[in-house]
Amino acid sequence: MRLFLKPAVLTAAVTTTLMLGACGQNPPEVRDVKTTTTDAAAVGGPFSLIDHMGKPVTERNYLGKPQLIYFGFGFCPDVCPTSLQRMGAATDMLGRRAQDIQPIFITIDPERDTLESLALYMTANGFPENIVGLTGSSEQIDAAAKEFRVYKKRVDDPESAAGYTMDHTDIIYLMDKNGLFVDFFSGDNTPAEIAERVTTHLKTGK
Ligand code: NI
Repeated sequence: MRLFLKPAVLTAAVTTTLMLGACGQNPPEVRDVKTTTTDAAAVGGPFSLIDHMGKPVTERNYLGKPQLIYFGFGFCPDVCPTSLQRMGAATDMLGRRAQDIQPIFITIDPERDTLESLALYMTANGFPENIVGLTGSSEQIDAAAKEFRVYKKRVDDPESAAGYTMDHTDIIYLMDKNGLFVDFFSGDNTPAEIAERVTTHLKTGK
């Protein structure tokens, strides 16, 4: 685990990963769950998914560069686009250094996020230019979400054409070039704050 992180930071990380993006009519919800510092060490890990070009990938494909990772779904009306645009605004602020970061979007709704729709979604205005979208089978998505301690829940939504929406964690993770957890950003963090934190990480590795 990251020894430079203070225990208080670790606790905050795990607690905040339970902040939910309500992607339907529900207001955002925060669940303050007591947890232990050791849990934070478990944020991130191996995954086996498919990128939006249809290529099977694992976490190893993205090692070598720090990554910004966000779990969400393409049909999310507000929370996901907002967070991905904040990620895009942050990487824009990095200038040339944006190439040193790999932004990754992992769908928690593989049923609707087909490769075609995922590829299109990744081109949305304001998203990071080099973002890659990942999907997979329900089992693969479940396993990846579990590695990142992402909460997700299918919720009935009569107003949606598909009849459901997804509640999910609204967190951008910063992972280092070895795939280890560095930091996280919630909806409270501005693009400038994210860019500053990422810049520090790129310069110092911390
Ligand atoms: Ni969402």
